[in-house]
Amino acid sequence: MAFYLAFILSLSLFQTVSVAENSIGPFQSISDGTTIVSKDGVFEFGFFSLGNSKNRYVGIWYKKIPVQTVVWVANRCKPINDSSGLLTINSTGNLVLLHQNKSIVWSTSSSKQAKKPRVQLLDSGNLVLKDEEDRSSQAYLWQSFDYPSDTLLPGMEFGWDSRRGLNRKLSAWKKWDDPCPEDFSFSVELEHDSYPDACIRKGTATHYRAGPWNGIGISGAPDLRANHAFDSHYFYLGNSLNYGYNLKNSSVTIIIVLNQTNRLLQHLLWMEGDQSWSVYASSPRDYCDKYGICGANGNCVISETAVCQCLEGFKPKSRVKWDLRDWSEGCIRENPLSCEDGDKVEDDFVKLDGIKMPDTRNSWFNDSMNLEECRIKCLNNCSCVAYSNRDIRGEGKGCRIWFGDLMDIRQISGNGQELYIRIPPLELGLCFLFSHASPLTSNSFC
Ligand SMILES: *[C@@H]1O[C@H](CO)[C@@H](O)[C@H](O)[C@H]1NC(C)=O
Ligand SMILES: *[C@@H]1O[C@H](CO)[C@@H](O)[C@H](O)[C@H]1NC(C)=O
Ligand SMILES: *[C@@H]1O[C@H](CO)[C@@H](O)[C@H](O)[C@H]1NC(C)=O
Ligand SMILES: *[C@@H]1O[C@H](CO)[C@@H](O)[C@H](O)[C@H]1NC(C)=O
Ligand SMILES: *[C@@H]1O[C@H](CO)[C@@H](O)[C@H](O)[C@H]1NC(C)=O
Ligand SMILES: *[C@@H]1O[C@H](CO)[C@@H](O)[C@H](O)[C@H]1NC(C)=O
Ligand SMILES: *[C@@H]1O[C@H](CO)[C@@H](O)[C@H](O)[C@H]1NC(C)=O
Repeated sequence: MAFYLAFILSLSLFQTVSVAENSIGPFQSISDGTTIVSKDGVFEFGFFSLGNSKNRYVGIWYKKIPVQTVVWVANRCKPINDSSGLLTINSTGNLVLLHQNKSIVWSTSSSKQAKKPRVQLLDSGNLVLKDEEDRSSQAYLWQSFDYPSDTLLPGMEFGWDSRRGLNRKLSAWKKWDDPCPEDFSFSVELEHDSYPDACIRKGTATHYRAGPWNGIGISGAPDLRANHAFDSHYFYLGNSLNYGYNLKNSSVTIIIVLNQTNRLLQHLLWMEGDQSWSVYASSPRDYCDKYGICGANGNCVISETAVCQCLEGFKPKSRVKWDLRDWSEGCIRENPLSCEDGDKVEDDFVKLDGIKMPDTRNSWFNDSMNLEECRIKCLNNCSCVAYSNRDIRGEGKGCRIWFGDLMDIRQISGNGQELYIRIPPLELGLCFLFSHASPLTSNSFC
């Protein structure tokens, strides 16, 4: 009986807001069929369906773009099967999505109870929960930007926030009409040494590796850099790496979307004239961007007819397969390293220029070492196969060394970095003879 009364009371107290409001407070709600709209009229938040399905989702989309463009979904894997869904702020200050049965389908997760909670859709497309009583705090109690779906909007931060323990990653929709994630995601990963590398994964397999942080950007992802359309910024602090972008011209609409169907991370630009999205940039960009396409110790050079080449000092593991352009087995050393033979003569290094740094999974770094200290560190450990500066700003600083096989190296025009690869001393004498045969690799010691 008490429950029944409370139910009647709550029904009469909840006013459904009408379109054009951009927020709801306590005792207000959004029922299926009503929405809230950001102040500038760009984004809309409410219930929607996809295709012919009767399933109802709650999310955010571009209001003025006629092609349905959903940028965030709350109940991604738990659609509501009728029109009885109701969004409301519960008594402990969370936004909850209720089904007819009063069962909670989805909710925000504020750690703090607001005295006067308000949920607002900002002009950025960020849905925020804040406390109107607490004017001192700029921070939101919860925001949709912290829980991205498949879309990175301008102004959104992507990557690790170690302070709040948040890993903000993109996960693609299963299909165009199913926002539930399957197994395709893009995230900044913390390696064993807490070093971030940004990767697209299909399940546990690496599909594309944007590359490690190098002080300026991510070495293998030139498309994420600032260009004439947008400013991008990175924050690298401790073991947090964040990425974000802002549009230079607010009347231009660009979004970054991860798509399971075409297996791409795409920058989409809204074309007002065509009334359609056009692809502005895609990752992986080309054959060489496919993770590990040339196998171990290979280098992918897109301009060559045979795109895969063994690194200097290496030869194809299987010449027959390699000549048939099956690169999967990669390359092995032509001659053993001097340190393996216990020789007194030190190994040496050849410089490979203009490349995307190899996978950092089997690597180690020290930010206070210089390049010469780095060389010695590598030389003194026979498992070390290569070294480089970690931060390429200015003269370069910091040290990274790699162990085992070098994976996923490619030639990159313009933005590449330098890597020093260990070779036995014998080859050093011969390198002069061969250096002209391989214009892409310059030997600093010759
Ligand atoms: C909708 O889902 C509820 C449970 O969430 C179920 O009881 C009901 O039968 C479903 N209705 C339809 C029409 O499928
Ligand atoms: C409000 O919603 C949150 C999140 O689902 C939940 O933890 C909390 O118990 C709810 N409060 C009440 C009074 O139901
Ligand atoms: C109502 O909610 C309860 C608990 O959330 C659930 O076990 C039950 O299946 C629901 N019934 C219907 C008809 O949806
Ligand atoms: C993914 O891309 C395909 C083909 O380009 C497109 O048809 C589909 O709508 C996209 N999926 C999503 C979820 O946007
Ligand atoms: C911004 O974009 C609009 C539409 O493309 C264009 O008309 C306008 O000139 C641009 N403004 C600037 C400052 O580039
Ligand atoms: C990093 O290098 C500096 C300078 O050579 C050294 O003092 C420090 O001990 C090194 N740190 C580690 C963890 O090896
Ligand atoms: C060489 O590096 C490997 C991998 O980090 C490490 O396990 C090994 O102890 C090192 N050896 C020496 C002699 O430092």
